[in-house]
Amino acid sequence: MTDLCGVRLAGPILNGSGTFDAIAARRAFGDALLERFPFHAFVSKTITLAPREGNPPPRLWETPAGLINSIGLPNKGLEGFLAHDLPELAELPVPLVVSVMGFSRDELAELVQRVGQRDEVALIELNVSCPNVETGLVMGADPAETARAVERVRPLTDRPLIVKLTPNANDPAAVAVAAEEAGADAVSLINTLKGMALDPRTRQPWLGGATGGVSGPAVRAVALEQVAAVAAAVEIPAIGMGGIASGRHASDFLSAGAACVAVGTESFRDPAAGLRIAAELGELATV
Ligand SMILES: Cc1cc2nc3c(=O)[nH]c(=O)nc-3n(C[C@H](O)[C@H](O)[C@H](O)COP(=O)(O)O)c2cc1C
Repeated sequence: MTDLCGVRLAGPILNGSGTFDAIAARRAFGDALLERFPFHAFVSKTITLAPREGNPPPRLWETPAGLINSIGLPNKGLEGFLAHDLPELAELPVPLVVSVMGFSRDELAELVQRVGQRDEVALIELNVSCPNVETGLVMGADPAETARAVERVRPLTDRPLIVKLTPNANDPAAVAVAAEEAGADAVSLINTLKGMALDPRTRQPWLGGATGGVSGPAVRAVALEQVAAVAAAVEIPAIGMGGIASGRHASDFLSAGAACVAVGTESFRDPAAGLRIAAELGELATV
């Protein structure tokens, strides 16, 4: 058993937000998905207050060891999520983490308050990798901005708050410390690294959003360093992710100080990757 902020999990493996569509998987695999669910807690894809269509296509570019995505957070918005997705996600056999993003502190506050009222939700993850329209600063890139966001929402819910850190910050450990001091219960990292690819023919950006986020094995060494630095700087648990594709990788992140790990891009290659990684991790533990 793993304890994450007082929530009991059957093991330490989560999914990275936005990398496993449990509702589509349930449609494809039926109740077999519930019997052999790949993760010990499920993190929803990030929702915003208003519905979003996401970025124009193309949205993905494959790098030699990973992906660049420019999905742009398409989602039904808060009301659509609460009415349609939450009841389906509540049927999953593991605790539910809902990921939220606000483009201002007011938006973030409304999301946290409304999501936190729902019994189906065990924890809330704050995706702060976006610009605050009021200040122009990327919330999670700046310790003071992150602290102000967490301080604003902390009194609004009794659910544990996870702050998802961006690797595109000068000092992720300083952001983590600011989040902890402002009342965060955990941090998760890394989100994607900024990246870009050109269309080989037109020499223009390939992705509809021009730039995107790099994930997968290509970022694992960067992620491991940031997880080690953050875990050493804070007392609260760190959820480590970035290119985890095997039990050995998961074990590396746990040894670097992570309390839990998350599997992201690898689930696109193999939707059951979480199960395999958990089994491999178990074998390593018994050696
Ligand atoms: C296609 C795609 C969509 C993603 N969507 C989200 C999202 O909605 N919210 C979020 O916080 N992170 C999102 N991420 C980032 C992942 O959760 C994770 O932090 C990152 O990909 C690093 O882990 P990985 O290398 O194992 O994929 C997304 C990543 C990918 C590849």
